Amino acid sequence: MKKLVKNNVSWIGKVDWELQKFHGDDYSTHNGSSYNSYLIQEEKNVLIDTVWMPFGKEFVDNLASEIDLNDIDYIIMNHGEVDHSGALVELMKRIPETPIYCTANAVKSLKGQYHQDWNFNTVKTGDKLDIGNGKELIFVEMAMLHWPDSMATYMTVDNILFSNDAFGQHLASEKLFNDLVDQCDLFNEAIKYYANIITPFSPILRKKLDEIIALNLPIEMIATSHGMIWRDNPMQIVEKYIQWANDYQENQITIIYDTMWNGTKHVAEKIAEGIIAEDKDVVVKLFNLAKSDDNDLITEIFKSKTVLIGSPTVGNSVLHSIAGFIHMVKEMKFKNKKAAAFGCYGWSGGSVKVINEMMDKAGFEIIDDGFKNLWNPDEEMKNAAFEYGKNIAKA
Ligand code: FEO
Repeated sequence: MKKLVKNNVSWIGKVDWELQKFHGDDYSTHNGSSYNSYLIQEEKNVLIDTVWMPFGKEFVDNLASEIDLNDIDYIIMNHGEVDHSGALVELMKRIPETPIYCTANAVKSLKGQYHQDWNFNTVKTGDKLDIGNGKELIFVEMAMLHWPDSMATYMTVDNILFSNDAFGQHLASEKLFNDLVDQCDLFNEAIKYYANIITPFSPILRKKLDEIIALNLPIEMIATSHGMIWRDNPMQIVEKYIQWANDYQENQITIIYDTMWNGTKHVAEKIAEGIIAEDKDVVVKLFNLAKSDDNDLITEIFKSKTVLIGSPTVGNSVLHSIAGFIHMVKEMKFKNKKAAAFGCYGWSGGSVKVINEMMDKAGFEIIDDGFKNLWNPDEEMKNAAFEYGKNIAKA
């Protein structure tokens, strides 16, 4: 069902309430998501983005109930990833000659995925498309935000920025607009989205935000490709992105561990007590990696100034869960954060050194040589872990 966005612009996407995992199984979506497609009906009829492939037929049937598909003059593909381009395959069977406007890199990604030689028209930043009634679409390349093919499309007069993935959230709702949903849900999903998807590209984003602000285009709405449309104070999410893109951190220390027989867990808890004893203001959070969601932990690291990673020693190294998780952390390219390591051991004791080496390679400033405990911690070692926590708070 089509929903009015503004004047002659409608939403025609799909709300995916069931979605629990995205990017295969790589990203948790506890609150579902939506694939937002937009239909502009001015003198020219324009479709901006489509939906994920499993909903392709439903999408095209729905679209055809709103408009004669042959009356669609232009299709804009802001990004070629399958969650936005998947329904193109079904759509182009019905209207194979309709021109598709996208970046040169999107031609590559669309051809690479669907092996079709559709009627592509490549655009660059500043290119314009007249859609009648005195309105134009202006294209802005957004390379690496988050694919090389990404772009945004700005609609004049109505002053809508169709931003695609940028400023999005994986949040299912029938409400459509940012001011109509729970603000905690909205911002929790927005920061998780940034932390897990945009963080590696923060330096590129900083330049792009400057470029967009310098264009001086009035923005009355930011129509994303996932989640809510920002219509109430749309610049609030731009301001958040400016904060998040500048090596964001809160006054938080996060302790993440995995444990075999709870020794490392007990050390983690004592370190946390020590941190709190030293610094009453800092937020301390503990997570057992094996019982936590990886993407939620990435969000916690995003918010942290310091991260402690704990693992018992296994075969002179770490549990594979910890190794895999630090690999994920490394890919985020976090900046300006500190790290420390801890863990129990029975004989060789290599885990702490391995964690420090891995976190160093992941771009963290390593605070010290870490905290090692032989077998289970006794009272003396629990006190030592407590003191270690106090030192971490001071660091
Ligand atoms: Fe929502 Fe990069 O696709």
